[in-house]
Order: sequence, then C-alpha cells, then structure tokens
Amino acid sequence: MNWNNKKVLITGGASFIGSHLSEQLVKKGALVRVAENFSSGERKHLDNVDCEIIEGNLLDSDFCKRATKDIEVLFHLAADHGGRGYIDSHQVECSTNMILDGQVFRHAHQNGVEKIVFASSGCVYPTSEQMDVTKEVFLHEKMVKPPYEADDLYGWAKLMAELSLKAYHQQLDLKTASCRYFTVYGPRCTENHAVMAMIARGFLKLDPFEVWGNGEQIRNWTYVDDIVSGTIAVAEKIHDGTSINLGTMERIKVKECAKQVIDTLNPGATIKLLTNKPTGPLNRVASNALAKELLGWSPQTRFSDGLKKTIDWYVATKSKDQANADLKTKLVGR
Ligand SMILES: NC(=O)c1ccc[n+]([C@@H]2O[C@H](COP(=O)([O-])OP(=O)(O)OC[C@H]3O[C@@H](n4cnc5c(N)ncnc54)[C@H](O)[C@@H]3O)[C@@H](O)[C@H]2O)c1
Repeated sequence: MNWNNKKVLITGGASFIGSHLSEQLVKKGALVRVAENFSSGERKHLDNVDCEIIEGNLLDSDFCKRATKDIEVLFHLAADHGGRGYIDSHQVECSTNMILDGQVFRHAHQNGVEKIVFASSGCVYPTSEQMDVTKEVFLHEKMVKPPYEADDLYGWAKLMAELSLKAYHQQLDLKTASCRYFTVYGPRCTENHAVMAMIARGFLKLDPFEVWGNGEQIRNWTYVDDIVSGTIAVAEKIHDGTSINLGTMERIKVKECAKQVIDTLNPGATIKLLTNKPTGPLNRVASNALAKELLGWSPQTRFSDGLKKTIDWYVATKSKDQANADLKTKLVGR
C-alpha cells in the first residue's frame, strides 16, 4: 500500500500505542487525523507529529460521524481500557466499548471508509486455556471459537468488535482486519501495566519490591515498535476480517522481569509477593505463526533489549514525584 497522502483516521491516536502508530504513518506520508477525548491519551505524545487532532467523545454520534468523514483507512484504537487492576474492577466502563466500537464501525461504513483495522487483544482467548503455568501454551487464532470464553467484559467487547468486523466484510464487502495485541510495553506506556509498575518501583528504589501474584505468571511482553510495524502490515495485507495475533513468542515470568528491573535500578532489593492482588490469566503467550505466514512479520525486539530501552526512557523523562503519583493512581486507574 502506498501511504503517501492516504487519508487515515486513528481513534485514540494520542494513546501509548496510538501515538507511536500516528508517528510512523505520518513518516510514511499519510495524512493522519487523530480523534481523541484524552481520557487516557496525552496531547504531548503528538507534540512532534504533524497530524490533525480533533477532540471529542466517540460515544457522541455527531462527533463520531465528523471524525470518520473523508477517511480512507481507519485504525480504531480508542477504548476504555487500563491494566489488570482497572479492567477487573471497571467492568461497566469496559462494557461501553461495545457501544463505542459499534458506533465507530457504523459511521465509518456510512461515510465510505474503505478499510478498518481494529486494535483487539489477547483477552479474546479462553481464560481456562491460560491457567496452567507448567504447560508451554502458545495461543493460536483458531482457539477463539464457539462457545467462546473471553477475559472479562473488556475481552468480550474486543471479541464482539472482531465478530462485527467479520460480518461487515462478509455481508457488506468492507475491508476489515483485527490485530490481537499481547501485553505491549515501551516508551509512553503507563504504570497501569505490570512491566511499567515494576520499572516505577525500581526507579523509586522501593524495598521491599512488591510484585502482584506469586511471580510465576508468564507473559509475552511485546515491544511497541513491533506492534506498530505489525499493525501497518495488517492494514496493507489483510482485508477479509481475519484476526491476527501480534505478539512475541518469548515466554517471560513476572519474577524474571522483576529481577531484571531490580538488577538495573535497585540492586539488592527484596521481592515481596502480594498474592491477594489480581493477576489475570497465569500463562498468556501468543503464537505468531499466522502473522509470519500472512504478513511476513515477526517481532524484532528481544525482551531484555526492549526493557532496557523502556527503563532508559522512564529514567530520562520522569521525576520521582511524578513516578510516585502515577504509580499510586494508575495501578487501579487509567
Ligand atoms: N497496551 C496493551 O498492552 C494493549 C493490549 C491489547 C490491546 N490494546 C488496545 O490497544 C489500544 C490502545 O491502547 P493503549 O494501551 O495504547 O492505551 P489506551 O488504552 O489508553 O488507549 C485508548 C485511547 O482511546 C482514547 N479514548 C478512550 N475512549 C474514548 C472515546 N470515547 N472517545 C475518544 N477517545 C477515546 C483514550 O484517550 C486513549 O488515548 C486500545 O484499544 C487497547 O484496548 C492494548
């Protein structure tokens, strides 16, 4: 796809992932519009990105209609979303994503948008397949099937949006695709995600160093640059409503991540396990075989390298007061 002068809308384009995506698409020559209510996205993320920003709530039908007008490709990232502490305790807010997604898709179609790419999640996978840490499970796309078993209302909303986009393609011939992101991290990510909370604790030299759960949980933390390159590849190559995992196959235990953070930022700190805190599924790692096959995409950043880059960014941009305040509010907020 030639992105030069392509009219692109990125909903939630000032978010952590959205701002990196906006930046890359502008670099490729696209004419990017960002639609944002700044409920968790930040204007400063787009300070150096030459794009149009329109502020409003996409739950408002008039604003949504205006945002999707004169657009060729839509990347839909806006969502009511946070880390585990948020999505477990804010089911009602997460349920509003079903309204938001439905409205964005409907107006996009009515306004003649040619292609919709949706930011879905590993939360669409059956949670019961992700509880045994002794198994080397790689979640593959075909595991999302009837009777379905998504992770909380956040996951159910993502699943509903994926199924809606498949229907838009099958029934109305709209080009659509969904990217299932897995635990993304990198510069601009906030402390509501485990890896960032750990970096904050290390930066603040907290001892004991608190870890939620027993530390045995397994994740495939995926660096944001890889997520962005995968999302753009999906926009270029997938048109038939297919959902594709974007995630590394590196399996990292929470306690291993904690150790790397401690060794870098606060050597000698003692880990204190908080086993009463929410952890989400215990063993969540993607297979990226389909992305390799259909997109020729695979992640380029090893976890140890991405973590180092993220720590360097955090230390260079945060004051201790800011980190302290953010850690307190974001662990259960947005
Ligand atoms: N970060 C991850 O690990 C991860 C994993 C899977 C999926 N995702 C998805 O990727 C997308 C981006 O997530 P993120 O982590 O970068 O940050 P995020 O969840 O903070 O991004 C959501 C963005 O949407 C905006 N927004 C929310 N409701 C809106 C509304 N009603 N109208 C207009 N704007 C609205 C927010 O201000 C924010 O910028 C989300 O859809 C999220 O569900 C993220």
